[in-house]
Amino acid sequence: MTVFRDDILQSKVALVTGGATGIGKQIARCLGRHGAKICIASRKQENLVATAEELGAEGIECIWVRCDVREGQEVEHVVNEIVRQFGQLDIVVNNAAGNFPAPIQGISYNGFRSVVDIDLRGTYNVTKAAFESQLKYRGGHIVNITAPFQNMGVSLQAHVAAAKAGVDSLTRTSAVEFGPHGVRVNAIAPGATADTEGMDRFEGIEAGGDSPCPLGYVGAKQDIASMVLFLVSEASSYVTGQVIAVDGGTSIDLFKLKLPTES
Ligand code: COA
Repeated sequence: MTVFRDDILQSKVALVTGGATGIGKQIARCLGRHGAKICIASRKQENLVATAEELGAEGIECIWVRCDVREGQEVEHVVNEIVRQFGQLDIVVNNAAGNFPAPIQGISYNGFRSVVDIDLRGTYNVTKAAFESQLKYRGGHIVNITAPFQNMGVSLQAHVAAAKAGVDSLTRTSAVEFGPHGVRVNAIAPGATADTEGMDRFEGIEAGGDSPCPLGYVGAKQDIASMVLFLVSEASSYVTGQVIAVDGGTSIDLFKLKLPTES
């Protein structure tokens, strides 16, 4: 499944927000398959139960706690439950996010606030609670799942881009503040990723260019999970405060020009 040894996260405990579905679920599975005990936390109990059972059947020790990352007290409850059940917390993946495609004029005040609250304030809430309770004393890792477009102008995503620009900023600030405590903080900017709710929401919206990216294919959820694994492993021990694109090169292909066909 990955190039890493199966036991590299043995004796570690990981929290994955939004871990019941999509990319978060694959991240939870990947960390679990490499030995970590997992807690998934999100809003819908039925998804949490189903995924915890599925991962459990795969041999992963996985608990769930229902939580809306916008609510500080709910987030603190998640961290307390993890410590109560597993005794520690080492890895936090801030993956929970909200999104819908809409032009600025089509986003209500509440719609804008909801997305910024989930994506940015949610990441802050979880980061603060996990650091104060555990990471501050034992070191660890935070990986924020951000987006690939916040440093550019992308239509239909004003709310998400604003929130994710904040997440990138928080990644850098928390890396600087937490570094002396042995906590590394990094972010991943996924490109188009197959078989996700995010992709479903953009179905029917036309994009420019013939190829999805320089590598020529749409990424998989495991591509993102593998980068999380790398970032929480010793292989990246001198990397912190970085936003790493996992997008097949989409973000560096500015004009998406077609190469002339070979004759
Ligand atoms: N277009 C325009 N506005 C929309 C919208 C859409 N497609 N979807 C939701 N909104 C607006 C709602 O109308 C509401 O604003 P209003 O009160 O002014 O009417 C506001 O967003 C909040 O939506 P609501 O569903 O009441 O709140 P929520 O907190 O449960 O929803 C969202 C959060 C908005 C992010 C919602 O899209 C969501 O829950 N998504 C599921 C997770 C997700 O986005 N996954 C994809 C990740 S890439």
